[in-house]
Amino acid sequence: MRQKIVVGNWKMHHHLEETQSFIWDFFKACPTLHPQVEVVIAPAYPFLCTASQMCQKSPLHIAAQNMHQADQGAYTGEVSAAMLRSIGVQKVILGHSERREYFLESDELLAQKVIQALKCGLEIIFCVGETFTQREEAQHFDTIRLQLEKTLFSRPLQELRSIVIAYEPIWAIGTGQTTTPDQAQEMHAYIRQIFSEKYGKATASKIRILCGGSVKPSNARELFSQKDIDGGLIGGASLKVADFLEIIQSC
Ligand code: PGA
Repeated sequence: MRQKIVVGNWKMHHHLEETQSFIWDFFKACPTLHPQVEVVIAPAYPFLCTASQMCQKSPLHIAAQNMHQADQGAYTGEVSAAMLRSIGVQKVILGHSERREYFLESDELLAQKVIQALKCGLEIIFCVGETFTQREEAQHFDTIRLQLEKTLFSRPLQELRSIVIAYEPIWAIGTGQTTTPDQAQEMHAYIRQIFSEKYGKATASKIRILCGGSVKPSNARELFSQKDIDGGLIGGASLKVADFLEIIQSC
């Protein structure tokens, strides 16, 4: 039985005070939450330390939205995996389509980030997704397979045990358009199948695969009830405690 997981990707939203009050309000609602769901938020870099201190020994886990692939060095403006670990951050989101598109992160670069994150003991939430054209041209399965092959599949099985995959079709992110539950289930089953081909059935059955792209309170329950969907990576709807809680309660 895979534990469900809901991750709030705050992107470049929420200042310090908003971050703090979100966490306090979340804690107030905690007793009403299902203890079986793992809940993660990914605030912006400047607030990770505060968030991580506030969430120590709480059911709320903290993820970074990015990290650099090197140990340390002259990389102005960058943050290393070890720095994240030193402030108590346990997880990192890698491969988000916004990083791929606006910051030109290639599969080759992401493969390096994966190695570095694993080396430093960060748990990875790894995003994959196709464009609208790729789906229209029936290239979506091959696109996802290639993204996984070029980034994760060079790693040995024992390193990937804690990895979480987030399937986010690019055309669904921030657009209000979502995959139908059937479309999402079909892709999640496919991802599990390629993990099975590479690492065996037992491993594939344990990998958690999240869906993302305009997931909100009104569609979360139906998506999360699909056999191979283990929760969600939530952008816009993770910014308000009430919406985020409703999504968590849909697990
Ligand atoms: P969205 O973003 O829920 O606002 O579509 C999801 C994401 O980019 O992770």
